[in-house]
Amino acid sequence: MDVSSIRSDFPIYSSEERDLVYFDNACQTFRPRQVIEAMNEYYELYPACGGRSVHRLATRVSIKLDEAREKVARFIGCDDPNCIIFTRGCTESLNMVAKGRLLKDGDHVLTTDMEHNSNHVPWVQVAMHQDIRHRIVGTPPSGIFDMDRFRDALDDVALVSMVHTNNVTGTTIPAGEIVKEAHDRGALVCLDGAQSTPHQRIDVKELDVDMFAFSSHKMLGPSGMGILYAKMDILERMEPLIGGGGGVGLTTYDRVEFLPPPERFESGLMNYSGVIGTAAAVDYLTRVGMEGVQEHERRLNDIVTRGLKDLPGISILPPADPALRSGIFSFNLQGMTSHDIAMIIDEMAKVLIRSGMHCVHPYFVSRGIDGCARASFYLYNTEEEAHRFVEAVKELSSVFSS
Ligand SMILES: Cc1ncc(COP(=O)(O)O)c(C=O)c1O
Repeated sequence: MDVSSIRSDFPIYSSEERDLVYFDNACQTFRPRQVIEAMNEYYELYPACGGRSVHRLATRVSIKLDEAREKVARFIGCDDPNCIIFTRGCTESLNMVAKGRLLKDGDHVLTTDMEHNSNHVPWVQVAMHQDIRHRIVGTPPSGIFDMDRFRDALDDVALVSMVHTNNVTGTTIPAGEIVKEAHDRGALVCLDGAQSTPHQRIDVKELDVDMFAFSSHKMLGPSGMGILYAKMDILERMEPLIGGGGGVGLTTYDRVEFLPPPERFESGLMNYSGVIGTAAAVDYLTRVGMEGVQEHERRLNDIVTRGLKDLPGISILPPADPALRSGIFSFNLQGMTSHDIAMIIDEMAKVLIRSGMHCVHPYFVSRGIDGCARASFYLYNTEEEAHRFVEAVKELSSVFSS
C-alpha cells in the first residue's frame, strides 16, 4: 500500500492543517477527493430525485442509486443488491432491526456487555414496550470474547445482536463461530459492523450473518450515511421504521401496501449525494484492497503499543496484543482525565484523538473507569505519525502525569 500516494488524494493533507496527526478515525475518517468530487457532481450536474420523476436528470440519479447498491453489495460479499438498505448511519440501521417487529413477546435478545449505545439503547427501548428480555454476555478481563460464556448464555435466545469489532478495545468477535452456534440453536444474528467494515474484508455470505449494520462516514464516505444488510426473507418480515412516500404502492385512506425491499425501508427523499459518495468510498477502498488496509493499521498499532506499553503510569485497555486490537489503541495515564489527555496532546503536538466513554457507558460504569483516551488509525496515517504520537504521549506523561 502506497501511503504517500493515498495521502495525495486527501485535500486536508494539502491544506494548512497538513501537519496534524488525525487519529480519530473510529469516529469519522477523512474523505478523498474522489468521494468529494462524486458528491459535488451530483449537486452540480444532476441534482434531482431518484425513483420518482421520469425526466432525464431523475433517471440519471436512479441509475447512480442502483449502481451504488450493487457496489456496496459486492463490497460486503452480498449477491443481491436489494438486500442493501441506505440509512442515516449505523445507529439507524440497528434501530431498524430492533424496532422492525422481528421478535415476538417472550423472546430474548443477547448482546455483549461492550455494546455501543446504538446496539444497547434500542434494545432497552424495545423492552420497555414489548415483552422482550435483553440479556448480556460478559467479556472476561482479557478483553477477548469467550465462546463458552456465549454458549451458556444462548438458551431461549431468539436474536444475538453484537458489536463485530469493538470501538473501545478494537477486539473482533469470532463472528463465523457465533453465527454457526446461534443458528444451530435457532437464533438469528445481527452484527454491528461499524468498526469492522472499514478495516477488514467483510463477506456476509461467508459469515452467513442475518443482519449487518455499518456506517459510511467511518470508511471514507459522507457523514450521516449508513447501510443495513439483511437476508431477503428477513427484510420481507421486517416492519419499516419510517413510512411515507417512495416506500409504498398505491395507498387509500385506510390501507397501505409497502413496496418490496429495499424501497419499503427508504421512504422520503433520500440523501442521493450521500449514496453516491458512499459508492465512491467503496470504489476507493476496493482499489486499495482491504487486506492492505488491515495490515497497515496493525503495523501502526504495533509501533504505538511497543512504544508506550512500558511507560510508567500508562494503562492500555486489554487485550495487550496489538494484533488483536485492529486499528485501535485505548489508554489512560495515571493522574489525568482522558479529556485532559486529548486536549493537551492537541495543543502540544497537533495530535487529534478521542476521549470519554465513546458511547459505551455501561462498559466503563460497570468497571468503575471514567473513560479512556483512544487513538484510532486508518490507511492514510503514517509510521512517522505513529512515532510522533508515541513521543507526544511520553512528553505528556513526563510533564503532567503523576
Ligand atoms: C461500534 C459502533 N457502533 C455504532 C456506531 C454508530 O454509528 P453511526 O454514527 O453511523 O450511527 C459507532 C460510532 O462510533 C460505533 O463505533
